[in-house]
Amino acid sequence: MKPIPPDLGWMNLPNLPTPVKALFAGYLLAIGLGLCMAGMQIMLTHGMADGKLGLSLEDIVYSYYGDRSGSTIEGKLNGSMKEMGTPEARLDIIKWVRNGAPEAEWEPRIKEVFKQNCAMCHGAMPNIPDFAKYENVKKLAKTSDGASVSTLTRVSHIHLFGISFIFFFVGFIFSFAAGVPRWLKVLAIVTPFGFLILDILSWWVTKWVPGFAWLIIIGGFGYSVASGVMWVISMYQMLILSRNGKVYGNAWEADLK
Ligand code: HEC
Repeated sequence: MKPIPPDLGWMNLPNLPTPVKALFAGYLLAIGLGLCMAGMQIMLTHGMADGKLGLSLEDIVYSYYGDRSGSTIEGKLNGSMKEMGTPEARLDIIKWVRNGAPEAEWEPRIKEVFKQNCAMCHGAMPNIPDFAKYENVKKLAKTSDGASVSTLTRVSHIHLFGISFIFFFVGFIFSFAAGVPRWLKVLAIVTPFGFLILDILSWWVTKWVPGFAWLIIIGGFGYSVASGVMWVISMYQMLILSRNGKVYGNAWEADLK
């Protein structure tokens, strides 16, 4: 028989009753695995956005802001079609495409630019798009403007609700840690929430201002590190520190002082 600590002296991670430890440790194990999977998913989706494995600022910019120079027409005008039109015509088309290829400017101005510079082939040769028709041009003028507002709203609220739940329980478990100074506990518990909000706000800012992409990385990195620290300390105290048989006293009461 282990000695029973006085009053609530068992209320700390090393001295918790085994069933409660089983609950906490099982939860942390599953959440830890979930975080690794989330990391892998970010690598495979956002990480590949620029076509290369690994998460970079470009990936983040492509995912949220989009690639507004990424239309086929602009690509071609910088590639195999570069010599086809006059330099003014090229610039004119590129500007119009970057503006989203608005139909209002098609007739009569832009249509004429295509006619003068491109129609001798596009419209005359088979198997290449006929640029006399706006629809054909429009299809090749599509650029990506990143995440849509509706996607951002959906993903934002799912993340805020879901991840707050994770941080709540991770922080709750960590609040029973023994021997951690109160200021450090407060900091560790509050930090993930702060970074989570920063992360999600910066998705929205980056959608319009690509220069803020680095904030998203800082946000995600920040809450991963903060919750990782709580995870490791909690597991260590419950499973390893507990073996020395010491009684650590009521962890919450210690934080009252
Ligand atoms: C001398 C003939 C010729 C002229 C002039 C010409 N093109 Fe092309 N264009 C081609 C051919 C041939 C292809 C198919 C081969 C290729 O993609 O390089 C093509 C392909 C393209 C494509 C890719 C189409 C697709 O389905 O992916 C775009 C975009 C394009 N041209 C834009 C232009 C624009 C804009 C102009 C005018 C500034 C222009 N081209 C002028 C011959 C021409």
